[in-house]
Amino acid sequence: MAVLLLILFILSLDNSVSGADPIDIYCPPEFPFYTPNSSFHNNLKLVLGLLSSDNASKAGFYNTSIGEGPDIVYGQSLCRGDITNSTICQQCIDKASQDILNRCNSENAMIWYNLCQVRYSFQNFDVMAYTGKYPKQNGEEKNVSDPIELGEYLTYLMDTLSNLAAFEPSKNMFAAGEIGYPGNRTVYGLVQCIRDIPESQCKTCLSYAFSDLTSCCSYREGGIILDRTCNMRFQFSLFFNASSGYRLIYPTSEGGKWKYWMIVLIICGSILVLAFAIGLATAILRQKKDRDRDEEATERTLLQELSYSKSVAVTQEGDLISSDELLFMTLATIKIATDDFADTNKLGQGGFGAVYKGVLPNGNEIAVKRLSRKSWQGIEELKNEVILIAKLQHKNLVRLLGCALEGEEKLLIYEFMSNKSLDQFIFEKRSKLDWKTYYGIINGIARGILYLHEESRLKIIHRDLKPNNVLLDHELSAKISDFGMARIFSENQNAANTKRVVGTYGYMAPEYAMEGLFSVKSDVFNFGVILLEIISGKRNSGFYITELAPSLLAYGWRLWNEGKELDFVDPMLLERCLGSEIVRCMHIGLLCVQENPEHRPTMSNVVVLLGSESMALPQPRQPALCRVLRVDPLTTTNASVNEITFSDILPR
Ligand SMILES: *[C@@H]1O[C@H](CO)[C@@H](O)[C@H](O)[C@H]1NC(C)=O
Ligand SMILES: *[C@@H]1O[C@H](CO)[C@@H](O)[C@H](O)[C@H]1NC(C)=O
Ligand SMILES: *[C@@H]1O[C@H](CO)[C@@H](O)[C@H](O)[C@H]1NC(C)=O
Ligand SMILES: *[C@@H]1O[C@H](CO)[C@@H](O)[C@H](O)[C@H]1NC(C)=O
Ligand SMILES: *[C@@H]1O[C@H](CO)[C@@H](O)[C@H](O)[C@H]1NC(C)=O
Ligand SMILES: *[C@@H]1O[C@H](CO)[C@@H](O)[C@H](O)[C@H]1NC(C)=O
Ligand SMILES: *[C@@H]1O[C@H](CO)[C@@H](O)[C@H](O)[C@H]1NC(C)=O
Repeated sequence: MAVLLLILFILSLDNSVSGADPIDIYCPPEFPFYTPNSSFHNNLKLVLGLLSSDNASKAGFYNTSIGEGPDIVYGQSLCRGDITNSTICQQCIDKASQDILNRCNSENAMIWYNLCQVRYSFQNFDVMAYTGKYPKQNGEEKNVSDPIELGEYLTYLMDTLSNLAAFEPSKNMFAAGEIGYPGNRTVYGLVQCIRDIPESQCKTCLSYAFSDLTSCCSYREGGIILDRTCNMRFQFSLFFNASSGYRLIYPTSEGGKWKYWMIVLIICGSILVLAFAIGLATAILRQKKDRDRDEEATERTLLQELSYSKSVAVTQEGDLISSDELLFMTLATIKIATDDFADTNKLGQGGFGAVYKGVLPNGNEIAVKRLSRKSWQGIEELKNEVILIAKLQHKNLVRLLGCALEGEEKLLIYEFMSNKSLDQFIFEKRSKLDWKTYYGIINGIARGILYLHEESRLKIIHRDLKPNNVLLDHELSAKISDFGMARIFSENQNAANTKRVVGTYGYMAPEYAMEGLFSVKSDVFNFGVILLEIISGKRNSGFYITELAPSLLAYGWRLWNEGKELDFVDPMLLERCLGSEIVRCMHIGLLCVQENPEHRPTMSNVVVLLGSESMALPQPRQPALCRVLRVDPLTTTNASVNEITFSDILPR
């Protein structure tokens, strides 16, 4: 079998090497061209020569520079991690170097082949900027029948591979693996980062890449995202060297099982211990008569009571909290309510599972979040969510009514929101809502966040605020949902740091995405992005906006500086209202997304500013354009900095 795979791989290898076309080439016309036979040109040839040398291909990664001042050329080459034969690596880099020299005369360029990549520039590569791109494949891949299912498998596969590549030093920033897929098939995945970057940057880049991979390709049988510092690829056929020791096999569903059972054991254990303790105490207080039988009986009723009437959850520290509002329901009740999770009752698909509509016997409508069995984070998220929401009550937060934990099923039961989530209104059914309604929604979101940050008993950072997580009830009043990633801060704690950056790219504040630093100000940033998305009707992330600017924030900031704010506003909104009110909201949005967290207003500031039409607003500063190459003015010669900043986007 292994031999067969190797042969298959070598066949496909030959194909792609002799096919000898680059997957993609980045040769931006915005950068100055070098003059033929100039010293820059000569230095470039020297650098490319070094990259193709024996030493460079043996290492698999090479980073060098030649020349001085305006003639300096930086060069970098990288072979794919599974290519252990340095001759093959060298052949690829050789080919790539010739190709980039013949096809590009820009002072900054990059080329990607299947097995290697080569890059050169007039400036150092230490500026990290994600500009991932999705090249058209030669033969467009077939579509899968169930994109949501593929999404789940890809999430699992790529998250594991990304963590391996980024945090496992022996992996040299490369990981490849496979995962079993229904229908007796296999999904193969590969991720890689440039080698001499910090782990967190590798992880960040891969997370961006995954977000793009999901939007471009998660309905297809293969896809590839290329960036200057990382790349990511998946396919239903083997495309890497599986015999080079990088092959990992993940069980389809067994992966997270032990964890699940551990948690179930811990919960049951805690309940048992508590019940036992109470039972024991009760028993001691009682007379000695029939002691043994009594104790057993008490234990049983207590257990029943705990699991069916009074609600219990386990906090992070492992102790039990109970809340009168929270109800534990039986799986049978929920199955009847949702018609056994019928597809017709399915409301949507979240990151950790599907959401179903249900009707309880008393006629109350509910929404049931069924955590995916495959979601390895499920139990953590669930614990977090139950504990948090059980303690929170606000009209702009969605209410958790109860939960059910039985066997493999993990269910959360919420009040039903007839108007679903905000994203469909912003991005799909725009004409359904007018500005006045949006304004009410914006205020609702702001108040909900303010409650989390300052008004509740706990200080809570949501960490994943985005339009999908804002639900609308029958009166179109906004309710924040999805607390799976939220964190509780102690009263005088202001910021925290995490190595595991979770959240949604496109909404994350730069300090969080890059350094894992989160605070109330990173939620404020998310709020600003939502505001700008509502006003423009465009997504901050994804490929949609790149014709105009690298991101929605960059686009808004540019129009703002040109005094063309109204061009940013969706014309549909302008039809029936005063432009000035929308422009004021855009102003507040830009204040919220400023690069420096300290410059961003707090949520209480925001609520005050939204409520007043006359209060003066400070000038916004540069927003966080973290998807954009930031060019140091000192290193550019005479090209306009602005121009470069806004044009170094995904090449088409
Ligand atoms: C560059 O130099 C080479 C030899 O040094 C010469 O043959 C060639 O014509 C020159 N090309 C240009 C465009 O000056
Ligand atoms: C290659 O590496 C060897 C040993 O590390 C060194 O002696 C040699 O000079 C290097 N060659 C080049 C061209 O850099
Ligand atoms: C490396 O690849 C080259 C070219 O395909 C081949 O001739 C050589 O035998 C390979 N070396 C090893 C160690 O596999
Ligand atoms: C590559 O080499 C240059 C100097 O030649 C150095 O400044 C830079 O930090 C190195 N690493 C990267 C990722 O550019
Ligand atoms: C695959 O799906 C995409 C989007 O869902 C669609 O645009 C495309 O035409 C489909 N391609 C094939 C070959 O079915
Ligand atoms: C899955 O594929 C393998 C080999 O391709 C085959 O031996 C096996 O019978 C298949 N199993 C099913 C359930 O189709
Ligand atoms: C694939 O991996 C094997 C085992 O490490 C190695 O011998 C072989 O040369 C590799 N193939 C390539 C093309 O690097």
